[in-house]
Amino acid sequence: MTDAMRRSGEERQASIEQNAAALGIDEALVSRLVDTFYARVREDDLIGPVFLTALGDDWDAHLAKLKDFWSAIALGTRRYNGRPMPAHLRLPGLTEAHFGRWLGLFRETVDELMPNPAAADFFYDRASMIGRNFQAMIFALNS
Ligand code: HEM
Repeated sequence: MTDAMRRSGEERQASIEQNAAALGIDEALVSRLVDTFYARVREDDLIGPVFLTALGDDWDAHLAKLKDFWSAIALGTRRYNGRPMPAHLRLPGLTEAHFGRWLGLFRETVDELMPNPAAADFFYDRASMIGRNFQAMIFALNS
């Protein structure tokens, strides 16, 4: 790695940390977001069963993975090294309605838990962008 690359990585990390601090986001909040959101997902009549089929009772690993995922996005940590797209391509029969419900529950959860609207939008905007990418890929492959 060149010095310039290292510097730009450090600058990027510093700006993620500054943004998180300004929005009041920390690890404890990410953890609470993931726990609260997936507790709702599990109870949901439409998307709960998709998770039940994929995960059975093995929620601990999923929650830990999703905390790493959101911590990477919001705090710039490097613990997540999965590949979200193939995980969703494997799920049979996902429709727009599944994504709509997922995002609706996520919106509700961030609006309740985040300390300010900007922090809620930060998470929601990223989730909806990722959701759009998943759907574009899934529906392109299935058409
Ligand atoms: C809309 C935005 C969404 C985001 C940001 C998101 C994010 C993620 C991430 C990061 C993982 C972990 C992937 C890995 O590294 O293994 C995951 C797994 C999973 N997601 Fe999503 N997801 C979204 C939508 C959905 C929807 C709509 C469903 C179904 C209703 C869904 C069902 C699942 C399931 C069942 C797994 C576990 C897959 C497995 O371990 O076999 N996701 N998701």
